[in-house]
Formats: sequence, C-alpha cells, structure tokens
Amino acid sequence: MARILTGIQSTNIPHLGNILGAIVPAIQQSKQANTESLFFIADLHSLTSIKDSELLKSSTNAVAATWLAFGLDVNKTIFYRQSRVPQVTELTWYLNCYTPYPMLANAHSFKDKSDRLSDVNAGLFTYPVLMAADILLYDAEIVPVGKDQLQHLEITADIAKAFNYKAGKEVFVIPKGSIDENVMIIPGTNGGKMSKSQNNFINLFLPEKELKKVVSSIVTDSTPLEEPKNPDTCNAFAIYKVIANSEQTSQMRQNYLNGGYGYGHVKNAIFELILEKYKNERTEYERLMTKPNELEDILKVGEAKAAEMANQKLLQVRSILGYN
Ligand code: ADP
Ligand code: TRP
Repeated sequence: MARILTGIQSTNIPHLGNILGAIVPAIQQSKQANTESLFFIADLHSLTSIKDSELLKSSTNAVAATWLAFGLDVNKTIFYRQSRVPQVTELTWYLNCYTPYPMLANAHSFKDKSDRLSDVNAGLFTYPVLMAADILLYDAEIVPVGKDQLQHLEITADIAKAFNYKAGKEVFVIPKGSIDENVMIIPGTNGGKMSKSQNNFINLFLPEKELKKVVSSIVTDSTPLEEPKNPDTCNAFAIYKVIANSEQTSQMRQNYLNGGYGYGHVKNAIFELILEKYKNERTEYERLMTKPNELEDILKVGEAKAAEMANQKLLQVRSILGYN
C-alpha cells in the first residue's frame, strides 16, 4: 500500500491551472488500487501571504469545495485542513532544530519571494520546514507536486535523513516527489503560464456573465475573421485544447485552417465548452459554498483520522528527543 500525500494552499479560489494541473491528477492517483491518500488544505502556509481572516476562511472553503466538486472520495482519502491538526506545528519546531540555516537561506523559492514581496516574514523563511512536517508526520511515501516544489521535497528528505541518522533508526520515511510529466502546463489568458500572480487565470466557478467576460479577455492576434489561422501559435486554441476532447480539438483545428472562423467564435466555443463540461462541478461547488456546515462536517472526519496518525508519530518523536 503506497501512501500519497499532497497539499494545496488556500490563497484564493483554485483556477483552471490548479484544477487540471494538480487537483484532478491527484484525485485520479488516489483512485488507483493499493494506494491510500491524504489531501489537505495548507492553510497555515497561506498565512505567510494572507493576513485577512475572511479571505483566508473563504479561500479554505473554496479549496475544499473544489476538491469535493471534482470528485474527491472522502471514504478513500483523508481530507483535512492543516491548521486543524496543530500537531504539525509541534513537529515543525523539532524539525527546525534539525535544519541548517543555509539550507533555508539558499532555497530558490525563499530567494525569489524575498526579492519580490514586501512582507518577508520568518514564516516565509521556515515555509519548507512546515512542509517537511506535513509530509513526515504522516509517513508519506509519494508526494505529487509541481516542479517548483521539488526543492522543498529535497529539503524534506535532507531533514528526515539528518533526524534518522541522529536517532539511529528510521523514524521518518524518506518521501519521493512525483512529478507527472503528462500533466500539462495550463496556459493563461495572456499566453503565459496560468497563475494567480499573473492575473491571467480562468475561475471555472464564476457566474456565466463574468465567466464570459474572462474568456473574452483571452489575448489573440488580429488576423481577420475570413482568413485561415494558425492554431499552433494561438493562445485561445491552446486553452480550448486542454478542455476539449480529441474530436473537438481536431474540429477546431480544421475551423482555424479553413478560415471564416473568427476569434470571437473560438472564445464562444471555449465558454460553451466550460459550461457544458463542468456543469456538474459548477453546480456542486456552488451548493457546497452555501453549506459551510456540510464542508465543516466532512473536513472534521478527516481531521480526526489525521490527528490520530499525527499523535502516534509525535509520541515516538518526543521520546527520541527526551520529552517523555
Ligand atoms: P499559482 O501559480 O496560481 O499561485 P500555485 O503555485 O499555488 O498556483 O499552485 C498550486 C498547484 O497548482 C501546484 O501543484 C501547481 O503545480 C499547480 N499549477 C498552478 N498553475 C498551473 C498551471 N498553469 N498549469 C498546471 N498546473 C498548475
Ligand atoms: N508548498 C506547496 C505549494 O505551494 C503546498 C504544500 C504545503 C504541500 N505542504 C505540502 C505540497 C506538503 C505537498 C506536500 O504548492
């Protein structure tokens, strides 16, 4: 039985890139035989950037509702909020004391954020240690992440090895990152990688009118309607392709090559396809967002299971460190 674990921060409503690049593949992986999975909302990590309590809470609910609307099976997956299993913060402290300062100071993600952000807090600095605690607390073996998180997994493995070496036994499982090379980078409305920070994202859950507006903002060139167009250099086609099936994609390719089919038509096709393909997910998301108590009840079940596992691990760790 392989244990899979992954977390996603709650800094906003997940966009199409987060959903197709992280959430859907993780759910698919959790459905494979011989796996058990823990998926959580990394709402403690979110505090490094979000200081607005209402935004933090609504983003946490939005992330939970997205996972559930896209088919997370709570009978098969332990699904929880990181903050509701505060044992992770205790382990973070212990691991902090096993983490060499230069390893954190040299982390790409920290260097990048500290150059870019105005609020460079200590939480941002020790972010990878909290992430290591997330993983090591639950003996996770496989951790699906995006490429940008690989260094954090190397840090996790280094901390675990240092701890195990000092303890003289395998207290922590050394996790493996899992980067699915088949997962596409989802393009944003401006042609770059879809990302919150670039403000080029598509929120699938917007009401129709607003969704239409976002889809209309997809940047294209100015080839006139009548002329044939090149699908392979067109951003609207790239977005259509990640949502459509192969038959729809070939048809659209043909429309481009034939001419007489304008970018307005393409955008309309994207809009209609989103409504059709994600009809159930949109309805379920909207329903869950009006039922915070239902979300709370679902998450509490996962949190109780996660806490039980966390407590067991901490008993072992405390005893090794001399705290009982
Ligand atoms: P953002 O770039 O919008 O801030 P995050 O860095 O919080 O998104 O990413 C959360 C998860 O979603 C990660 O696993 C990341 O790899 C995935 N992800 C984000 N944007 C994309 C994208 N455009 N295409 C594919 N996956 C993405
Ligand atoms: N840092 C990850 C991200 O921003 C989120 C995360 C936190 C995570 N803890 C984790 C991912 C543990 C995997 C395992 O994408």
